[in-house]
Amino acid sequence: MAKKYSTVNDFNETQSEYLNLVYEIMQKRKRGEKPIAYVHTYGCQQNVADGENIKGMLSKAGFDFEDKPDNADFILFNTCAVREHAEDRVFGNVGALKNIKRKYPNTLIALCGCMMEQKHIADRMYKSFPYVGLVFGTHALHMFPELLYKALSGDKRVYLRDNDDSMVHEGLPVQRDGSFKGWLPIMYGCNNFCTYCIVPYVRGRERSRNKDIIISEAKEMINNGYKDITLLGQNVNSYGKTLDEKVSFSELISEIDSIDGDYWLRFMTSHPKDCTKELIDAIASSKHISAHLHLPFQSGSSRILKLMNRHYDREKYLDIVNYAKSKIPDVSLTSDVIVGFPGETYEDFKETISLIKEVEFTSLFTFIYSPRVGTPAAEMDDPISDEEKSKWFKELLDVQEEIASKRCKSMVGTIQKVLVESEKGKDDIINCRTSGNILVETKAPKELIGTFQNVKITKAGNWILKGDLVKE
Ligand code: SAH
Ligand code: SF4
Ligand code: F3S
Repeated sequence: MAKKYSTVNDFNETQSEYLNLVYEIMQKRKRGEKPIAYVHTYGCQQNVADGENIKGMLSKAGFDFEDKPDNADFILFNTCAVREHAEDRVFGNVGALKNIKRKYPNTLIALCGCMMEQKHIADRMYKSFPYVGLVFGTHALHMFPELLYKALSGDKRVYLRDNDDSMVHEGLPVQRDGSFKGWLPIMYGCNNFCTYCIVPYVRGRERSRNKDIIISEAKEMINNGYKDITLLGQNVNSYGKTLDEKVSFSELISEIDSIDGDYWLRFMTSHPKDCTKELIDAIASSKHISAHLHLPFQSGSSRILKLMNRHYDREKYLDIVNYAKSKIPDVSLTSDVIVGFPGETYEDFKETISLIKEVEFTSLFTFIYSPRVGTPAAEMDDPISDEEKSKWFKELLDVQEEIASKRCKSMVGTIQKVLVESEKGKDDIINCRTSGNILVETKAPKELIGTFQNVKITKAGNWILKGDLVKE
C-alpha cells in the first residue's frame, strides 16, 4: 500500500502576505521603473512547471520578466541535477554573475531546484559563490514568498533545504510561459529508484494531486484557449496511488478527455512497467489524446534493464509497443535511452540498436550515462572508456537518423493536422507540430499561431517535414 499524502490549500493563509511585503520592498529597491526578474530554468518539464509557479508568485509581487540577467533586480537559476553536464552549466553561469553583483550590489541572486536538494552540491555552491543570497530546494517551493522576503529584508543569506515532502501544496499562483501550449503537473516525486537516477533523491516520494483540482485546472486551460496540454509526472501510470480516492491514470485522462473543446492532450512520462493495455485502449478510444506515446526504454538488453532496476524486460517492452501499434493507427513513439550504463557490453548495446530498429521511434532523447553521487549505479564497475561510449553513441544516432528520415519520407503526400507554433525567423516560415510531435515548416500568416490547421506534406528531411497550408 502506498503512503497517503494530504492536500493542503494554504497558500493564501501562509504565503500571499509575504508577496505584498516583497512588493513594498521592491518599490524602493528596483533599479528601473518596475522590478525586473530573470528566472532561468534548466532540466525537465517538471522544473519548467515549477518555474511557472515561481513566475506566478513574482508577478503577484509586482515583477516583470526579462530574458537576460543584465537589468534584473532578482536573478534565479532553477537547477537540474540529472546529469553532470546540466550541473556544470549552472556552476559556469552562476560564476558569470559575479560582475553583475559587483556593479549592482542590490541585485538578489538565488538558486533553487533539484541541485539544491543534494547537500554536497548546495553546500559547495553556497561556499563558492558568496554573492548568492538565497538557496532553496524543490520541497520549499510553496514557501518561496517567505524565503524571498527574508533574503530581501535581512542582512543574512537564506539557505533552506527542506526535506519535508509530506503534503501536496495547492493554490500556488502560476504564470505559464506559453499561451496555447501548457504543462499540467498531476503528481510530484518518484518512487522507482532506477539505479542511475538522482530524481527520487531530489524530488522526494511520489505523491499525486487531487483529481478534482487537476480537472478544474484542465478546464480552465481549455477555456483560456490552450490547444496542447501535457499532463506531467515522473511516472504518470502510477497516478492515484497516494490518494484516498480510488482513481487510476486511465480514469483521470478519460475524464479530462471528456471536457469539450478543440485541444490535444498528452502526458509524460509513462513508465513501461506500469503502462497498461487499459491505458492504450483509453488513448485509442479518446477524442483529444494525441497518438503519441513517450515510453522511455533506457536499454534494449534485459540484463542491463535488471541492473537499472527498471522492472520490465525487453519482451515486456516490445509487447506493450506492439499492442499500442495494433490499437492506435500511426502511433508516434518517442523514448529516452542511455548509452554506456556501468557494465554494459557491446553485445548489450547491440540489443539497444536492434530494439530501436524494431520499434522505429519517431525521435529519441539520447544520453551517455553520467554517474550521480549517492545512486547505486555510481558504485558499479564501469570499465568501458568514454571514447568507446562516444563511438557507440554516434552509432546509435546514425541508426535513429535513418529511421526518422524513413518515417518522415513515408508522410510525404499526406495531409496532417498541425498546431501552428512560432515564426522560424526567416522567409515567412512558420513552425508547426503534428499530434505525433513532428516539426512541420510551412508558409502561413503569423496570425495563425496558436490555431490548428491542415498541411499537405510535400517534402521530408531527416527530422522535419515541409508542406503547404490546405485552405478550407
Ligand atoms: N521519469 C522519467 C525520466 C526522468 S529523467 C522516466 O522514468 O522515464 C529523463 C531521462 O534522463 C531518463 O529517462 C534517462 O534516460 C536520463 N537519465 C536519468 N539519469 C541519468 C544518468 N545518470 N545518466 C544519463 N542519463 C540519465
Ligand atoms: Fe528516474 Fe526512474 Fe524515477 Fe524516471 S522512473 S525519474 S528514471 S528513478
Ligand atoms: Fe532534472 Fe530535476 Fe527534472 S533533476 S530532469 S529538473 S526532476
